[in-house]
Amino acid sequence: MDRQHHDRETTTAIEPLDIVWSTPTVQAFRDLFATTGWELPDEARMRAALAGSFAVACAYVGAQLVAIVRVISDGAMYAWINDVIVRPEYRRRGIGSALMQEVLRFLAMRGIGAVGLFCAQGQEGFYARLGFRPRPATAPGMFLGPDLSPVGTRQELPSHGLAP
Ligand SMILES: CC(C)(COP(=O)(O)OP(=O)(O)OC[C@H]1O[C@@H](n2cnc3c(N)ncnc32)[C@H](O)[C@@H]1OP(=O)(O)O)[C@@H](O)C(=O)NCCC(=O)NCCS
Repeated sequence: MDRQHHDRETTTAIEPLDIVWSTPTVQAFRDLFATTGWELPDEARMRAALAGSFAVACAYVGAQLVAIVRVISDGAMYAWINDVIVRPEYRRRGIGSALMQEVLRFLAMRGIGAVGLFCAQGQEGFYARLGFRPRPATAPGMFLGPDLSPVGTRQELPSHGLAP
């Protein structure tokens, strides 16, 4: 089977979908990531990103990785959700919502109450149904780094001169 397991593994059967807490192979992650149009980081960086994740929730149909959500966290107060991806042919079937609900339950069980993410254009409703709200104008989110939008839709951001 094209996946590795670790001690945080639990499985929820949503016929015929399996939600699994385990780090996928870097190749499976790259294949899924490549379906998004986001710039694909190099393999070593993606391997390190998987290894450094607080938790990785995956959905499989058989042996194929069809969806992923990565969680970055201090394990106590804050979490950041990254790489919410469902394979194009499996979208609009509730898989993304199911995976996100598992992730939010996982965080709530650990008392991690402050959860942030970037919302791609057009996905506001998806996240709003899960309870996410835009930051208020009095305390907006801010970001330092490259525009992470799909290639071809990016806006030039001012450089901070500290790019790795
Ligand atoms: C965003 C993403 C993860 C959503 O995954 P998904 O599995 O399609 O999500 P869901 O099926 O739970 O919900 C998506 C939509 O399908 C609808 N839907 C869910 N089940 C459905 C069904 N059986 N029939 C028809 N529509 C359905 C939902 O109501 C939702 O509607 P919306 O477009 O108004 O939000 C997916 O589109 C994706 O991978 N996009 C590319 C990467 C990306 O942009 N990620 C988000 C970064 S912020």
